[in-house]
Formats: sequence, structure tokens, C-alpha cells
Amino acid sequence: MARHNPLRDPQDRRLPRIAGPCGMVLFGVTGDLSRKKVMPAIYDLANRGLLPPGFSLTGFARRDWADQDFADIVHDSVKQHARTEFREETWRQLAEGFRFVPGEFDDDVAFDNLRRTIEDLDRVRGTEGNHAFYLAIPPAFFGIVAEQLKEHGLAEPRGNAWRRVVIEKPFGHDLESARELSAALAKAFPSDTVFRIDHYLGKETVQNIMAMRFANEMFEPIWNSNYVDHVQITMAEDIGIGGRAGYYDGIGAARDVIQNHLLQLMALISMEEPVSFDARSLRIEKQKILSAVLLPERLDLHTARGQYAAGWQGGVKVGGYLDESDIPSDSKTETYAALRLDIDNRRWAGVPFYLRTGKRLGRRVTEVAVVFKPAPHLPFSETATEGLGQNAMVMRIQPDEGVTLRFGAKVPGTAMELRDVNMDFAYGGAFVESSPEAYERLILDVLLGDPPLFPQHEEVEASWRILDPVIEHWAKSGRPEAYPAGTWGPASADEMLARDGRVWRRP
Ligand code: BG6
Repeated sequence: MARHNPLRDPQDRRLPRIAGPCGMVLFGVTGDLSRKKVMPAIYDLANRGLLPPGFSLTGFARRDWADQDFADIVHDSVKQHARTEFREETWRQLAEGFRFVPGEFDDDVAFDNLRRTIEDLDRVRGTEGNHAFYLAIPPAFFGIVAEQLKEHGLAEPRGNAWRRVVIEKPFGHDLESARELSAALAKAFPSDTVFRIDHYLGKETVQNIMAMRFANEMFEPIWNSNYVDHVQITMAEDIGIGGRAGYYDGIGAARDVIQNHLLQLMALISMEEPVSFDARSLRIEKQKILSAVLLPERLDLHTARGQYAAGWQGGVKVGGYLDESDIPSDSKTETYAALRLDIDNRRWAGVPFYLRTGKRLGRRVTEVAVVFKPAPHLPFSETATEGLGQNAMVMRIQPDEGVTLRFGAKVPGTAMELRDVNMDFAYGGAFVESSPEAYERLILDVLLGDPPLFPQHEEVEASWRILDPVIEHWAKSGRPEAYPAGTWGPASADEMLARDGRVWRRP
């Protein structure tokens, strides 16, 4: 029985939402995702007092480890990657709930052990049968693990308890494989118990897109094709693929980032106001907009892709994609992708959305720029407006989180001369509290059973439907164009915008 505090009003926003009694089982404990994101986020949540006192974390992996070895791995990861300070007291309490179960995914004995471990946690730690299974493993194994959990009676809760499964992208590599993946999961977990993580949705600045649009009166009247000229969504990274050849090669920038993060950003920017912020209402609006997306007829003219070559990054000479370890010398995987999309509805007819992402670009930055049309008439001399561009609202997702409004102003002096200036909102200046990591928010939401920030399968399908033709087109069109590391991508990406009479912003 979940305990209820009658003095707690769930509407009261002054009280933080704290997860009820529960535990989490982590598959793939040695991977990057677990060590860099999941484990530190769990510690940070514990440190912020948002986990129940008996919270338990069970690791499952093909290692000959005891509980203590697992605890050491978590300890290292927390020390290296946690956001909040290390407190011995938090650590000790959390570590009491660590368990480790060794085994392969097809090992029945191991899954029996896992069941016993969880039942034991329910008894000694008071987790009350509530458990989340976090599959931080390659998607090829989702099916077998889900099946094993079901076979061994772990997928189905008893009484009022809950069981949930958490998965991370890639949700397939095209529409068909995404469907297969979902079908495999659905055999063990009903769809409302599957939590798909798109970590961009956990970012404060991404949620702020909804706050900006729907909490304010002044933007809505101009948020349409009468005033908006086009929208640019950029996710640029300065890093290369690092040690992720096995994951990245054959996947590439479009599947890695556009299919999920950028299409989600586009949906939040362009969707209609949801009836409420509950999961169902939000998903309805996102699905509507994703299904209204139109691809350009000429994909050769309105998409671009590239692969980084050797170059200079932050004053250091770096190798190209084909020089990275374990990348075949003839790999055609793109590390840069850009495309134009249109939205076939009344609000956005004629307003292109340009999406781009890449590795080894000029700097790390993610932003959404809504660029407005030029004023229809300028009662100034031509020379007065030389420094005047188009008005823009730029939502800076990261780093340097905030929002910039760009507009023209008079340069002080005796002549009427105009120039672009910026008005700036910076998180660092407006709020004292630093933003939690996306994974803190998302893991807490899994444990609370709060689904609005998790895309449903329908959204995943809609996104593949948009991307599949582009990827098929590229597969038939030779090699991606090389661009030197540290630059802003291939020339074809600039040409693609120039064809529409526009230029990419330099973020
Ligand atoms: C992941 C991609 O989803 O996002 C990575 O798989 C990328 O390739 C990462 O590096 C970037 O995340 P963030 O939060 O640093 O923008």
C-alpha cells in the first residue's frame, strides 16, 4: 500500500515531488550511458532528497561481481560525473540499497536470482514491489530481456504495485525496425509502462519552450506564417565520435539526433497549445504536427550531409571520421545532416523549418532560432538600414542557457542609423538555482509514473516516417561531402539555404 500524507496537497508546487517506495534494476551497468548519466543522476536525486529512503539499485551484467564491486563502479561514476557535491551521508544510505546479479540475458537462473533479489528488497528495504527496469543496453537485446522479465514473473506487478521499463534510443533504425522493437516490448510490458527516454525533453530549456509559448501573451499572435519567415534548429557538437564507433557507424547524424531530439524540438516549437500538460494532451498535439510534416520533393536540393575530415578544433589538430578507431576506411556514415521540412497546416504554410546537426563543428551549441519576416516598409534611407537584419527569437538550449530577442535599434549619434541589438534572458542571471541534469528529471518522472516527457511509440513512428525517405535518398547518392573539423559543415549545407535565399545563423 502506498503511504499517503494527508497534509500534502499534490497541487502545492512548493513541495518537491518525491518518489514513493521503489527500486530500479539497471541492465548494462558498464556502458557509457549508465556510468556518465544514469548512476550520477540517481545519486543527485538522492542528494536532493527526492528518492525514498529505501530506494534500491540493482545492477545486472555479465560480470563475476559481488554487490561491493558494483558499488565501487557506481562510486567512481558518481565521483566523476555527479552534478551535486559528494556527501558521505547520502552515499552511505544509497549504497545500502545496492545489489548485483551476475548473468547473461538468456540465463534463466540469473533471472530467477533477480526475482529473488527484488523480493528480498521488498522485504528488507520496503520497496513494496515497485520496480523500474532500465535497459541501458543495445536495442537488439530489448526483446530478449523483456521476454525474460516476463517469463520470470518480473514484468507483472502484484496488487497496487507497479513495474515499468525504461529504454533509450535508438528506437530502431527505420520505421519497420521501430515497429518490431515496440512489438517485442509490448509482449511483456503494456504501452503505458514503457518509458522511452529522449533526454532532450528532460532539459529545462526544452521545457521552457512550452513555458515561453503558452504562459505568455505576446508571442502567440506572431507565432505563425504571417510573421515568421523560417525557423532554424541547430544541434552542433565540437566533439567527434570518441569511442562510440560501434554505435555510430552505420547510424549517422540524422538517425542519432534528427530523428529524436531535433524533431521533438520542432514539434514543441510548432504544435498547437495542448488542452493540458498531461501526457495524452501533449502527445496528441505532437503527433498532429509530426504527421503534418512535408518533405521537399527535391531531396537533392533541400538536404545536405557531410563527414568530418581532419582539421583544427580549439587549437588542436584532430583526425577525420575515417581516421577514428574501428571506422572502416570506406564508411559512408554522415556526421553532419541538414534538411528542410515544411508543415502542412494553416499556421505554418510556407514557413520552412531547417534542421541541422553535426559532430566536430565550430563549437558545442544547441539553439532554436525563430526568424521573423523583414518589416514590410522601412521609412529609412538605404544606408541607414545596412546593419539591420531580420528580427529573431533565439532559444538557447545549451550551453549558456537562455533566450535572446534580436531587433533593430538606433545607433546613438546625429544620424538615423540602425543596427541589430540583443535583449537577453540568461538562466544564470535570473535564477539562483542551477538546472538539474535532464536524467535527474526523467528518472524521477519514471519513478513517479509521470509520462508527459516520454515520447510514445506513435511519435517515434511518425519521426521515422519523416526521415526514412531522406536516408533512402542518401543511400543512393554516393559519399557524404567532407568538411574540415572545426568548421560549420559542408558547403552543400550553405548552398541548400542559399537556394531559398537564406543563410544559416552563426550560433
Ligand atoms: C545523444 C547522441 O543522444 O546526444 C550523441 O547519441 C550526442 O551522439 C548526445 O553526443 C548529445 O547530448 P547533449 O545533451 O550533450 O546535447
